[in-house]
Amino acid sequence: MRQRYYLKCIGCGGEYDPERILYTCPKCGDLLSCEYDYSRLPSDLRGIWGERTLSVWRYLEMLPIEDRRGEIISLGEGGTTLNRCRRLQKEFGLRNIYVKNEGENPTGSFKDRGMTVGVTRALQLNMESVICASTGNTSASLAAYAAKAGLTCIVLIPSGKVALGKLVQAIIHGARVIQVRGNFDAALRIARRLSEKHPLYLLNSLNPYRLEGQKTIAYEIVDQLGEAPDKVIVPVGNAGNISAIWKGFKELRTLGFIDNLPEMIGIQAEGAAPIAQAFRRGLDGMRPVEDPETVATAIRIGAPVNWKKAFQALKESNGFMETVSDDEILEAQSLLAAKEGLFVEPASASSIAGLRKLASSKSIDKNERVVCVVTGHGLKDPDIVLRQSPKMIEVDADLESIERIIMIG
Ligand code: F0G
Repeated sequence: MRQRYYLKCIGCGGEYDPERILYTCPKCGDLLSCEYDYSRLPSDLRGIWGERTLSVWRYLEMLPIEDRRGEIISLGEGGTTLNRCRRLQKEFGLRNIYVKNEGENPTGSFKDRGMTVGVTRALQLNMESVICASTGNTSASLAAYAAKAGLTCIVLIPSGKVALGKLVQAIIHGARVIQVRGNFDAALRIARRLSEKHPLYLLNSLNPYRLEGQKTIAYEIVDQLGEAPDKVIVPVGNAGNISAIWKGFKELRTLGFIDNLPEMIGIQAEGAAPIAQAFRRGLDGMRPVEDPETVATAIRIGAPVNWKKAFQALKESNGFMETVSDDEILEAQSLLAAKEGLFVEPASASSIAGLRKLASSKSIDKNERVVCVVTGHGLKDPDIVLRQSPKMIEVDADLESIERIIMIG
């Protein structure tokens, strides 16, 4: 009998024992996906899930982990708020806008959803060390979960290009932080090689187990809305998250929880947009961007490893890609903070910048129900805000001078 879950190659369709440590297909080298034997699911899944709080682990039966000895490494990930954004709606001339605030996760980004699964997996495989390359959030998250699990954590980051808050997180959680003179793509190539040569468990989004955790964004959105939205807008870097979310929606349809699927819309920064460029060419293959550059350092990626899965998501969902400039990203960041009380990092604001652009080009109908995923907390990158803000006022400690300033406005 087939196991409850197994690994399947998205290219040649080869199936593999989930106990093997594989990141890509041993036959053809393509990406792997975690698949489930639906006939082995409990019949009252809805009832079982309904009794648990909204979180990644609500969906245990559709995750590739056996909770044998209560060994799940959790910091309380998922269960993030789906904010109805009425002031933003008004600003953009739309009527049904929601923002899924992934900054509420334990280390302040959606990566925690993947790491709770991925690090638990590392422990169950008896690995002692974990490794990732990162633009910041993956390393912050992996460092925290590795600390909780008692694992050694090695992170490779592009030198000088990681936001301060994320760097500080990796350091305080005790990771061995190695700055690489090169960009994220170069760091990931080395991390992959290292994981092949040494007993280091790789926790980049190439790891299909990690993506399983991230698909719970889709599960939660459906639980929160009662159905699938019309469109989901996601910032795209290495393209793991958009693929994972799409997989989540497809599974919910297979399970009979939803009838309709949303269109997936990926947003990239203009200076780091290989998938958006491929989309304009009709998805004829991926040409890497050699020197990606954007203020949204989290998505400063030129050679996304999950591009094939992202292409599938775009094709199957009838979705599309859009690009936004750095100025548009920073404007959207300020707008979301000022209108909705949500402070997100620049990469996350790209989904809001994308929404604004698509609303003004009428690519979104005003009645459509749209969910923007904002992926990381604004405090991760405080420098960018200070760099943009006017100089702060400083006065003597007396009533009149402060009154004068307040009255002037
Ligand atoms: N938003 C934020 C805040 C991110 O940190 C990332 C990726 C993304 C969006 C894009 O997600 O790669 O799945 O398409 N950050 C990775 C990191 C690359 O190392 O932290 P993706």
